[in-house]
Amino acid sequence: MAACSSLLFRLLLVLLTFSDSTVQILGLGVGINYGQIANNLPSPSRVSYLLRSLNISRVKLYDADPNVLVAFSNTNVEFIIGLGNEYLQNMTDPIKAQNWVLQRVQPHLPQTKITCITVGNEVFKTNDHQLWSNLLPAMQTLYNTLVDLGLDKQVAVTTAHSLDILSVSFPPSAGVFRQDLGEYLHEILNFHAQIKSPFLINAYPYFAYKDNPNDVSLDYVLFQPNQGSVDQMTNLKYDNMLYAQVDAVYSAIKAMGHTDIEVRVSETGWPSRGDENEVGATPENAGLYNGNLLKRIEEKQGTPAKSNVPIDIYVFALFNENLKPGPVSERNYGLYYPNGTPVYNIGVQGYLPELVDPSASTKNGFSVFILLILVIAYIISS
Ligand SMILES: *[C@@H]1O[C@H](CO)[C@@H](O)[C@H](O)[C@H]1NC(C)=O
Ligand SMILES: *[C@@H]1O[C@H](CO)[C@@H](O)[C@H](O)[C@H]1NC(C)=O
Repeated sequence: MAACSSLLFRLLLVLLTFSDSTVQILGLGVGINYGQIANNLPSPSRVSYLLRSLNISRVKLYDADPNVLVAFSNTNVEFIIGLGNEYLQNMTDPIKAQNWVLQRVQPHLPQTKITCITVGNEVFKTNDHQLWSNLLPAMQTLYNTLVDLGLDKQVAVTTAHSLDILSVSFPPSAGVFRQDLGEYLHEILNFHAQIKSPFLINAYPYFAYKDNPNDVSLDYVLFQPNQGSVDQMTNLKYDNMLYAQVDAVYSAIKAMGHTDIEVRVSETGWPSRGDENEVGATPENAGLYNGNLLKRIEEKQGTPAKSNVPIDIYVFALFNENLKPGPVSERNYGLYYPNGTPVYNIGVQGYLPELVDPSASTKNGFSVFILLILVIAYIISS
């Protein structure tokens, strides 16, 4: 009997290992943006299964959706959560900031790994100067709340900028911030340096290509083999635009007196479809962009100016989001359709299960099912 059950156990292990070995090429440290501006997305528990089948363990949300945070409890997935721009005014009030953390963050810790909060998204892309002024106070107030609650060591505070905050981005060594943002960014950089949190940018070489398809080399933006360009000031060679954009941000930060702040890419991606005038928005190009990017992440490449700092990137986005306003491309950045089918082939295939019993962990349910089959098979064969 002991021998028999140990045989069963071994068989079970083999089967479970097999069922878990869906291709995991994505598990290379890449993060993914889990946007939810859609009315047809799968439930968070199914998404949790998809991401685990892809071995993706870093996820960025635009809010602090409790349904998502609960669905990922007791997984090894790390979360960046977000505070929308509409919260910034309130977050300058210590009482409201504390209430938000107590209600939206603390209940999920430590079973869900929340490691970072982005306060606002692309605030300087809006024309709302009150919002600009509220950004740093909101980050500071939130940070102070985390300190009071003893959470500041595990949860970082930052914000995500669009690349429009640069007035010069090429050559990378000439990167500088827009003059009208100088006073804000100067203080924000001091804050990052003080609390040792990263500077996040949303960087889309696609926009540069779309605006100027005749002048910008498609191979250069898609990480395909190309001549590249040499920055005459530094003699550094760039073979893709994303790295040039990241280094331009490093230069702009340095021009403000800081060499102590890490730049990370909170969003980058390529649309698989677009309007007539959105040149380059095709599944082929999107597959090349994201597939080539993943290979570079796997190699732990740094940018030419920071060759010893592996690029830290969150791809945009997990799903096509059917309710996003704007041109067709906006609704077509996803790696996946909402039904779990990949939009294009980048060499990975996740597994979005059809059925999930929300009361039981999928894996336990699956183990019991397999065990049952094995027992039945054993009984029949003996
Ligand atoms: C999963 O990803 C982690 C890093 O995120 C990596 O260390 C590990 O080797 C990956 N596993 C597989 C099977 O790819
Ligand atoms: C800001 O606080 C006010 C007053 O407490 C509240 O009514 C409002 O809903 C809050 N705004 C947001 C976006 O939560």
